Amino acid sequence: MESPYLELREVTMAFKGYTAVAGINLSINKGEFVSLIGHSGCGKSTLLNMIAGLARPTAGLVTLDGRQITGPGPDRGVVFQQHALLPWLSVYRNVYEAIDSVFPGRGPSETQEKRERVERVLRVVGLWEHRHKHPGELSGGMRQRTAVARAFAIVPRLLLLDEPFGALDALTRAALHEELVRLWTFDQNTETVVMVTHDIDEAIYLSDRVVVMSNGPRARIREIVDIPIPRPRDKRSILHHPAYPDLKERLIGLLTEAPAVNAA
Ligand SMILES: Nc1ncnc2c1ncn2[C@@H]1O[C@H](COP(=O)(O)OP(=O)(O)O)[C@@H](O)[C@H]1O
Ligand SMILES: [Mg+2]
Repeated sequence: MESPYLELREVTMAFKGYTAVAGINLSINKGEFVSLIGHSGCGKSTLLNMIAGLARPTAGLVTLDGRQITGPGPDRGVVFQQHALLPWLSVYRNVYEAIDSVFPGRGPSETQEKRERVERVLRVVGLWEHRHKHPGELSGGMRQRTAVARAFAIVPRLLLLDEPFGALDALTRAALHEELVRLWTFDQNTETVVMVTHDIDEAIYLSDRVVVMSNGPRARIREIVDIPIPRPRDKRSILHHPAYPDLKERLIGLLTEAPAVNAA
């Protein structure tokens, strides 16, 4: 049997005096789109940071393609909640440098290819006209869109998204949903996506599976809900899919039921 692409085995993260997550087991296959949902502070970002290689579990193992994750890598693109842009670089350079760090080729055709990619993603997120601005001159939503553009531009094998669309208006959010699906479906490289979200509709629309976490301390996976709605999915008609109401109610229920009491 083929082993999973991304695997978390008995993963625990204990901060000083506080064990955020404990004994997390999760296997994700190549090509899957998986969302993580759970209450604020339950440990979603903590899990994503460990997959990104920015934090090491205090117990347990995270492996990618069979190898233990020991640090960040170009195979993983990350969009964080706090979209850390480089303040001294323009929007354009923020995206360009990200691509450049992953694809170091500097020949004329390679440079041209990078320029085209930057333009394409900046147009997609609606920032082409603002490409000369620096992060300090942008609204929160524009900064977030720059961060999304940067991650999309790298076309990583594994895309890690931490509430990437949280601060965006509904139209921009919908456009980026479409683009994310396109990136995941057609761009040969980005095969697997793990996304943290607060938005149940977003999770259903985008995911193959939704992982619901319990509250901390010692947060665990409460349940994994399959989203058996065939693709391609359409934003409007998905609302009328016979499975939709039950899925939504199930997810809301899992988030609102009294959480299981965990031994601290
Ligand atoms: N570096 C840290 N040091 C101590 N506690 C932390 C640290 N990072 C996160 N935590 C705690 O771990 C818990 C989970 O945090 P986080 O993963 O950010 O939650 P979520 O992303 O689900 O909102 C929270 O209680 C948070 O305060
Ligand atoms: Mg978080």
